[in-house]
Amino acid sequence: MKSNSEHWNRIFHDTEEAQLGWYESDTAQTLRLLDRVPDWKNSTFFLPGVGTSVLVDVLLDAGARLVLNDISQEALDHDRERIGDQADAIEWVCQDIAQPLGSNVPPIDIWIDRAVLHFLTDEDDILGYFKNVLSKVKTGGHVLFGEFPPHGSATCAGLDLHRYSIEELSERLGSVFRLVEHFE
Ligand SMILES: C[S@@+](CC[C@H](N)C(=O)[O-])C[C@H]1O[C@@H](n2cnc3c(N)ncnc32)[C@H](O)[C@@H]1O
Repeated sequence: MKSNSEHWNRIFHDTEEAQLGWYESDTAQTLRLLDRVPDWKNSTFFLPGVGTSVLVDVLLDAGARLVLNDISQEALDHDRERIGDQADAIEWVCQDIAQPLGSNVPPIDIWIDRAVLHFLTDEDDILGYFKNVLSKVKTGGHVLFGEFPPHGSATCAGLDLHRYSIEELSERLGSVFRLVEHFE
């Protein structure tokens, strides 16, 4: 089955946040990577498929500007409720990230994808995703991906995955990006 809003809305409606298989309360690993980016707190972030990630709260506390995307309105509603007043300062983008992003999405300094890209399994969708990365991330910007590796599980949340080697990710990003760090 292809990733779709009904599937994800059902998951976010029916499941406590901390019970989600991918729930991560400790954002230390992401913050360690961000510390390699000078002045990251003064950046505009794009988080595709943000789900209900508490990384949002950490970035807001640091003073960063945020653009949050998800195919699931249910997930974004959970975020709004949790964040409270600061939600008004966020640009909310409820759409399939394989489709072109609009002009409401400003140029982005840092794009962080944790377990989202790998749900796109059609080649056209994958190409659409990378077009968005290339059109929105500024020159000198950074992208951070956390996807299942080739020998990882072939499914997650009841959906098939397109798993990524570092070679495939690098190739799809193209020569305008330079690899800074990778690990499993
Ligand atoms: C495994 S969860 C990861 C959530 C979050 N990134 C985190 O680290 O907690 C995958 C997320 O991607 C979203 N998603 C799946 N397919 C999508 C698509 N085509 N466009 C935008 N979001 C999508 C889901 O709704 C869900 O929030």
